[in-house]
Amino acid sequence: MKTRITELFGITYPIQCGGMLWLATPELAAAISNAGAMGNLTSGNYNSGDDLRRAIDRTTELTDKPFIVNITTMPSIRLPVELLQDFFKICCEKKVKAIEIAGAPVDTFLGKEFIPMAKDAGVKVLHKVGTVKHAVHAQKAGYDAVTAAGFEEGGFPHKDNISTMILLPKVVEAVDIPVLAAGGMVDGKSLAAALALGADGMMMATRFLATKECAVHPNIHKTLIEKNETDTVLALKTLLGGLGLQVRALRNDIIKQIEEIENGQGGDLAALLPLISGERARVVWEEGDAEQAMLTIGQSVGRITDIPSVNELIPRIVDEAKQVIQRTALTMGI
Ligand SMILES: Cc1cc2nc3c(=O)[nH]c(=O)nc-3n(C[C@H](O)[C@H](O)[C@H](O)COP(=O)(O)O)c2cc1C
Repeated sequence: MKTRITELFGITYPIQCGGMLWLATPELAAAISNAGAMGNLTSGNYNSGDDLRRAIDRTTELTDKPFIVNITTMPSIRLPVELLQDFFKICCEKKVKAIEIAGAPVDTFLGKEFIPMAKDAGVKVLHKVGTVKHAVHAQKAGYDAVTAAGFEEGGFPHKDNISTMILLPKVVEAVDIPVLAAGGMVDGKSLAAALALGADGMMMATRFLATKECAVHPNIHKTLIEKNETDTVLALKTLLGGLGLQVRALRNDIIKQIEEIENGQGGDLAALLPLISGERARVVWEEGDAEQAMLTIGQSVGRITDIPSVNELIPRIVDEAKQVIQRTALTMGI
């Protein structure tokens, strides 16, 4: 397969793993890259520049293929702007293939010098966006590609609630740089649809969470198979709305408590913070009680019925996409 994304990233298949706090580790990133797609190493897993350096080194020991480093540019006490700037500089020093920015744009949040720094180092920079306006800004700021992420996505969708079906073709029409489709992508049908809507590839995270190489407790994998597309909710609009964001997470006991607090029925910000802490999610991924933390999971969970290895998943997606496109061509009399 050849698209502008396979060319830009130097990968075999136009499939990227999205950032996943605690879960997009060197091991998972390398497994995905070794399978011909783009693995993701999420910098938020680390508390210092040296930790990220070691993680990049570990990933390059496990794969000689390209991988992308996610830097989530949101206000954070654990990950202050200075540390995020360090992360970006380290990616340039280490000459990783690409950086995935999610949140505020690099030029306004980290500084004007950062995109030129990446260009000088030969590192590609991609921005995940939830609106057309942000895609246009990314192109103007010098980014190499954008990911159009519809509000089906797990994690932090834009508060405007635009679905992938609408956002993706609008972004494709608005910018000239390559575009990845995200939010609800799981299989070959998704890839074929993304390409049909004008994308150069797709990005998935919930689907990669449901693979053997993603090191979560077996109960979490069981939960992903059992849950349906109706089992996620949008929350934290009061807390994150000011940043233009919200969270999509699994409907569970903790989300119920979060919703009560947001509706003014159960405490204040001080009561909310421990419920949404990243540390709480880390424990749950490891220990497996899916009711006990805010778990960022997309609507795509409704289309997940198994836990394949990454090596089974990637060729399966590509083969299915080819079949879907051939069948569609026949239907169209081509
Ligand atoms: C478990 C999990 C953790 C995530 N953590 C992050 C993160 O740290 N940074 C980020 O930018 N996005 C994060 N996301 C969002 C994904 O990178 C991606 O945008 C989204 O999941 C794509 O939609 P999908 O869930 O339908 O595949 C996370 C998603 C999941 C499922």
